[in-house]
Amino acid sequence: AHWTQFVNEPDTDWSSPVNSRWIAELLKDWKKRCNKRAVEIQPVLAGETTSGNDETLPIMKSYDVSRPEKVVCRIQPTALEPLMKSIKHVVDWRGWADTPLEQRHEILRGVAQKLRERRGDLIGSMVADAGKTVAQADPEVSEAIDFCEFYPLTMRDWANRPEIEVQERGVVAVITPWNFPMAIACGGVAAALAAGNCVVLKPCNETMLPAWLVCQAFWDAGVPVEALQFAPCADEVAEQALVVNPDIDTVILTGGTATAKRMLTVRPDLHLLAETGGKNATIVTALADRDLAIKHALQSAFGHSGQKCSATSLLLLENELFDDETFQKILADAVRSLHAGSAWDLHTAVTPLVSPPNDELTRGMREVDDDEYWLVMPEHVDGNPTLYRPGVKWNVKPGSFSHTTELFGPVLSVMRFGRLEEAIEIVRSTGYGLTSGLESLDDREIEMWRESIPAGNLYINRPTTGAIVLRQPFGGVGLSAYGPGLKAGGPHYVLALSRISNGQPLA
Ligand code: SER
Repeated sequence: AHWTQFVNEPDTDWSSPVNSRWIAELLKDWKKRCNKRAVEIQPVLAGETTSGNDETLPIMKSYDVSRPEKVVCRIQPTALEPLMKSIKHVVDWRGWADTPLEQRHEILRGVAQKLRERRGDLIGSMVADAGKTVAQADPEVSEAIDFCEFYPLTMRDWANRPEIEVQERGVVAVITPWNFPMAIACGGVAAALAAGNCVVLKPCNETMLPAWLVCQAFWDAGVPVEALQFAPCADEVAEQALVVNPDIDTVILTGGTATAKRMLTVRPDLHLLAETGGKNATIVTALADRDLAIKHALQSAFGHSGQKCSATSLLLLENELFDDETFQKILADAVRSLHAGSAWDLHTAVTPLVSPPNDELTRGMREVDDDEYWLVMPEHVDGNPTLYRPGVKWNVKPGSFSHTTELFGPVLSVMRFGRLEEAIEIVRSTGYGLTSGLESLDDREIEMWRESIPAGNLYINRPTTGAIVLRQPFGGVGLSAYGPGLKAGGPHYVLALSRISNGQPLA
């Protein structure tokens, strides 16, 4: 198979002094750049309407998450009409679908190369616009490069199989979230293009700059604007033009469960590939390496302040650990040692939230139910309205608010269990099934957990975030996913964006 040739892009080696000097300079430059002037972002549409500009629409702005008084981007949204027209324009345009697969592949390799060359600016854009630390942003660039290299390889394998015929589906809308503003945008676009589709990218409003830079790399490498349009717009415009509009064949959504449900209500026959929420748990048994378990759990819970669908937000401890005061103390000390600060500082571990906490997160960070108490209380840090030191809520009970509600922030809820079966039931009862972690050195526990835990991505003795293309194809079950269930970053994903032999979609 072609994809067996695939090699993951390495992250930057920060132990090299050359690289640490490089990043220090880069951050200085980017900070200056953000001080001077905002990046102007416009829609890039196809056909006669090359710009969707409508001067009557208010300009949208995005802010430096760590210095919210600085505007990073000024964004001109597209109005509904030009966007509808530009989509109509590419419905029968065969320029990309008729480009031979090898040539499309070559172009996407070219995109990967541009992303490699621009790694520094891509990191800078995520530090500024998404408030990501360099340590969080760097692997996102690697993942984006992997998507551009990997999907065309998989597509060539499917296209070369004598027993099936694969064709493009049509126009694919890619609707992306603010928490992985680069990798998820790049992944959806690369997969849809590898399969020969035209794409309209609707990037999240809060953190648009990384997606904008990604599109530049696609265009610069030779992807025509007809094949990739960039459509910043209001949510109502996106719903009409990218979901209800019958000229759109497929939507790739990464976002909330409620958004996915709403899309299927307004367009029940939509071919939807959605990756939605999670309420992910890490189970730690008495047979775990306790220090490593704490390290992995905190990385999973508080990386990017817990604003990841893959984040661990429940920590399930076997009674012996739950009642062990030494374990509690090590955990509490480890949480307090995480520096909450600006994403521009290299020693920061916990960054400001991208948006002010919603009602649920506010409740999750402020209130404790009966029996619950704070092992470490989350505290607001002066000087930034969305910066919080992370907190750990102890003795959360099954069925409570903190057990069942996805919070997407820097708070970890700890629950106790007696038998492993009981812990698995606590996980199952959330209804979600995205990532799940087990910390145990016991083969029988690992086997039992692996067979019965309801989640798409299972991680044993490692963090639950940071899935790597091909090694850990990413996607959930239950409330965490909608659609054919083919995982992003896996060899089958491009088939969800193709029609197979007799014109029927695969799933
Ligand atoms: N793929 C990301 C992770 O694994 C989440 O979207 O953390």
